Amino acid sequence: MKRHLLEAADLDRDDATLVLDTAAQIDQALAGREVKKLPTLRGRTVVNLFYEDSTRTRISFELAAKRLSADVINFSAKGSSVSKGESLKDTALTLEAMGADGVVVRHSASGAPHRLANWVRGSVVNAGDGTHEHPTQALLDAYTIRQRLGRLDGVRVTIVGDVLHSRVARSNVGLLHTLGAEVTLVAPPTLLPVGVGSWPAHVGYDLDAALPKSDVVMMLRVQAERMNASFFPSAREYSRRYGLDARRMAALPDDAIVMHPGPMNRGMEIAAEVADSVRSTIVEQVANGVSTRMAVLYLLLGGSPQ
Ligand code: NCD
Repeated sequence: MKRHLLEAADLDRDDATLVLDTAAQIDQALAGREVKKLPTLRGRTVVNLFYEDSTRTRISFELAAKRLSADVINFSAKGSSVSKGESLKDTALTLEAMGADGVVVRHSASGAPHRLANWVRGSVVNAGDGTHEHPTQALLDAYTIRQRLGRLDGVRVTIVGDVLHSRVARSNVGLLHTLGAEVTLVAPPTLLPVGVGSWPAHVGYDLDAALPKSDVVMMLRVQAERMNASFFPSAREYSRRYGLDARRMAALPDDAIVMHPGPMNRGMEIAAEVADSVRSTIVEQVANGVSTRMAVLYLLLGGSPQ
């Protein structure tokens, strides 16, 4: 394993499989235990550095570090000296002086975790940078697929919607490809990035055509906060062509699953009845996020063997 986890490409197939296997071991070790805590990272310090809003990811990393018995510092840009204009570098040096072994960072600027990795001695984990990458989301998604379908090799995954602004899509395409899955992106042409042709994925525009050939359909949030122009005529039009409702879900093969990283726009990219259906893994994804992130922190911070 590399020292940092900045993007999906930092993991080769063996590394990614090791993370998933370690997460499965952690799940097994904690199942049925009253005290869901391992002593593995006792004495280590993990700093969660969140410059951008987050619910799931922030809580998930915090819980992951605490369940490994690390000392955890949560730092959010609001209420810190960042609002007084302190730079990322000065914040990093402060953390360094305090002896952080691991820094988990979310930032609205693509590339911020890479910069940070040059300034600190500890391991940096990218928890989402701009529209670039979100590698632990891809790991927890891969873990969820493997848990539900029993394999990743040859699994047909269709990722639908706002690919242009989605760090989740970028990381998933890379990691799922590394793990042998076959990825298809389905989106309106305006929501596909320039250069998508060079990604290891098929590209299509017709959701109805893709669904019967999908073992997994991953819906992306329409990221209105990152849109500075009109990318589609109206919300209604978007959801008519690219939203997953019950009628469309019925076109999926019998065992197919429906994923969403959250937060959802219910009624826009995904209908409530689909989000709450038995095919939906949305709640499992959140739970799997904790064990997957525990695995990442454990492997990067090199805790003593249990
Ligand atoms: C995603 C994110 O923030 O990148 N959410 C998450 O981490 N669970 C996706 C999104 O915001 O749409």
